[in-house]
Amino acid sequence: MKELVIASNNKGKVKEIKMMMQDINLYSLEDVGFDKEVPEPYDTFNENAHTKASAVHEYTGKNVFADDSGICVPALGGAPGVHSAYYAGLPRDNDRNLEKLIADMADKEDRSAYYKAVICLIWDGEVYYFEGECHGTLVAEKRGTGGFGYDPIFVPEGYDKTFAELQLEVKNNLSHRGKAVKKMVDFINNR
Ligand code: IMP
Repeated sequence: MKELVIASNNKGKVKEIKMMMQDINLYSLEDVGFDKEVPEPYDTFNENAHTKASAVHEYTGKNVFADDSGICVPALGGAPGVHSAYYAGLPRDNDRNLEKLIADMADKEDRSAYYKAVICLIWDGEVYYFEGECHGTLVAEKRGTGGFGYDPIFVPEGYDKTFAELQLEVKNNLSHRGKAVKKMVDFINNR
């Protein structure tokens, strides 16, 4: 079986990605003994994904991938965007981030938003990128308990439930991360 390290400590993400990659032997950062916090100082998803993947690749020498993702809101000039994980400041706190986004959207007419994910894969020493987007709208009040992060207010296009109300299988089929992971899995399966 092919082996790959997933360079993320985000439990929500890791759970989703593991569900989508059952034919590949996935190692967590804990499995490979990597316990450093990698800074994400850049203004692009690509650069942040690359910095995480390469730190873990240098440490393990193994094939590895990292995802950098966030939610982009046109009415807020694209924020929180790459800063989604610490929108309400440090330390990172998903609940405070969500409350801040709800408050920032209170007076906005345009409620469109999209999630974006960029995966950086380092495979046999070469660097590859895979992207996915998922468009939808933001509701004013939280609904549902599934997913993570901003999911309780994000309703994907074509649905009337939030990502936090939909089954994880459904979310994975349409999500930004799901789309990027599928592209990466197709790539790996053809190696
Ligand atoms: P990263 O770990 O730096 O990529 O941060 C991603 C951040 O974007 C998360 O902490 C969430 O705030 C947000 N995010 C990314 N994907 C999702 C998702 O699928 N649902 C909800 N929030 C997400």
